[in-house]
Amino acid sequence: MKDTIGWALAGTGGITNKFFEGLQAAGGRAVAAVSRSKERAREFASKKGIENAYGDFDQMLDDADVDVVYIGAPHSVHKEMSVKALKAKKAVLCEKPCAINADELQAMLQAARDNNCFFMEAMWTRYLPPLVKVRQWLAQGFIGQVKMIQANFGFNAAFNPHSRIFDPCLGGGALLDAGIYPLSLISMVYGGQKPLGIASRMFLGETGVDEVTSAVLDYGESRIACASTAIRAQLVNDAWIYGTKGKIHIPNFVWAKTAKLLQEGENDQHCESEFIANGYNYEAQEVMQCLREGKTESAVMPWDESLTIMETMDAIRAQSGFRYPCEQAAA
Ligand SMILES: NC(=O)c1ccc[n+]([C@@H]2O[C@H](COP(=O)([O-])OP(=O)(O)OC[C@H]3O[C@@H](n4cnc5c(N)ncnc54)[C@H](OP(=O)(O)O)[C@@H]3O)[C@@H](O)[C@H]2O)c1
Repeated sequence: MKDTIGWALAGTGGITNKFFEGLQAAGGRAVAAVSRSKERAREFASKKGIENAYGDFDQMLDDADVDVVYIGAPHSVHKEMSVKALKAKKAVLCEKPCAINADELQAMLQAARDNNCFFMEAMWTRYLPPLVKVRQWLAQGFIGQVKMIQANFGFNAAFNPHSRIFDPCLGGGALLDAGIYPLSLISMVYGGQKPLGIASRMFLGETGVDEVTSAVLDYGESRIACASTAIRAQLVNDAWIYGTKGKIHIPNFVWAKTAKLLQEGENDQHCESEFIANGYNYEAQEVMQCLREGKTESAVMPWDESLTIMETMDAIRAQSGFRYPCEQAAA
């Protein structure tokens, strides 16, 4: 891998702007911006001081300065963009959820395998310092065996049937957009294990996407987890991890700035984050570190675990009979 890793940023919307800021703080170099419109790509590139602007994804892939593509477009195009990039031998950091369903993700991982390329789901929260500390506390057995996790992520989005979050054609809905955070946290704590059983409910709104969803997950050995998500109600977005010897509290865990360890009979320990920049710098650093070490996946967000989480979301949707239009066309 070259000393300076060249990034292409795909999509010019909300999250790409935030990721660009994090990338800069991580010392990364964006060499190309790509949009569906050449003009928007040019405008984005000139504002950010990025050398090349493309109005065509395939053309961007011919740019030899591009080593890794960051995909900040809606979920509905993650598979197409990732597979194209991987076939062009570019590494990929793909926004969460990295696909609409597990079948799509399987195809993406196969492309990464076939082309010996790096691929990672951009589950940025896992790389924040308080979450790194939580993994250490768990590994050190400070709270004993984990028995129960409760985690929520939900917000009250302004209703707009044409927005990404409410549009089924763009993979809208609470579960894929927000519910993936508690599910990913739960999976991280239970070591990437697949749940043995799931009981869930989703309530679909007028555009046909889920607006409120809850799931109870059974991990065996009397270990359980509860996750809730919403796009029409502001939840308390904390995570609690309860073990046989204590508990961990992560307030507002998606943007975790702190985590608290409460051991029975011990003083509380707090981890206050040295959260630098906007937090997206940590995942960018991880990608560049993996590329320099010649890895094809990150040990913190491995391929198999992204797939297990995707399968869990498929199972939750299946229990409520919720399919996306692209899946109905494929059926
Ligand atoms: N990690 C996080 O914290 C976080 C936060 C928010 C969102 N996300 C994820 O990031 C992705 C994008 O979310 P966002 O909120 O940034 O959405 P957004 O503001 O709508 O931006 C997405 C961008 O993708 C491009 N795009 C839109 N529709 C497209 C299509 N059909 N085909 C190809 N490109 C299209 C557009 O850029 P052009 O018009 O320039 O092509 C658009 O500006 C989603 O998967 C979401 O889950 C992650």
